[in-house]
Amino acid sequence: MTAQLNPRGDVAVLVPAAGAGVRLGPGRPKALRLLAGEPLLVHAVRRLAAAASVHTIVVAAPPAEVAAVRGLLAPVAPVIVVPGGGERQASVAAALAAVPDGPTIVLVHDAARALTPPELVESVAAAVRGGRDAVIPVLPVVDTIKEVGAGEVVLGTVDRSALRAVQTPQGFRRAVLAAAHAVGGDALTDDAGLVEKQGVAVSCVPGSEYALKITRPFDLALAEHLLAAGG
Ligand code: CTP
Ligand code: MG
Repeated sequence: MTAQLNPRGDVAVLVPAAGAGVRLGPGRPKALRLLAGEPLLVHAVRRLAAAASVHTIVVAAPPAEVAAVRGLLAPVAPVIVVPGGGERQASVAAALAAVPDGPTIVLVHDAARALTPPELVESVAAAVRGGRDAVIPVLPVVDTIKEVGAGEVVLGTVDRSALRAVQTPQGFRRAVLAAAHAVGGDALTDDAGLVEKQGVAVSCVPGSEYALKITRPFDLALAEHLLAAGG
């Protein structure tokens, strides 16, 4: 059944989905790889559409797959599909440019985090609505982290208590994200990183184990198990 988005909602979600998925191994672009018989992007969009304050969803698709992605998502939710770019940042910028007037909060969410619960989408949006300029979901780092130099020799142990692993959706006041993207940054900078460079404070909210990024074959296998267990 096609989900309805909320016409009175204040949130637009940008979904960069144009990556190749090189680390997942040979095959179709990652957003179109199957998880329990459905593309990752379908899982991701279905969960976004279930979040109560989402007004607009814009997907940045692999340029060669725009028509296919439109067809794939039509039965899932009413989404805008645009061609993505060569880097994630360009894909986000393309999606941002397609957001209609209205939403004052913009979330950026990786298609690869296909099992992200709607509750996390709402908690990030609520923090922005509550007055934060920029909000990221984070988890504590569980492994000991070492800094390593030439020849794989350990230089030191990093204090992990001050470290966080960052997920998406990352949420922003719309004008803050637009200003940061207008300036840009290097290819490795995430959306929150662009905003940090503008001197804007970025706040953390608790992330979710289910928002794991499906990057390698092991992650896909883990996601299959989580879904089978009702995730
Ligand atoms: N992405 C995008 N446009 C790009 C590169 C990445 O929209 N040019 C998106 C991916 O589709 C994904 C998200 O950004 O949803 C996070 O990127 P990542 O997990 O690195 O996905 P890929 O780039 O597809 O994977 P890989 O780096 O292994 O090729
Ligand atoms: Mg990538």
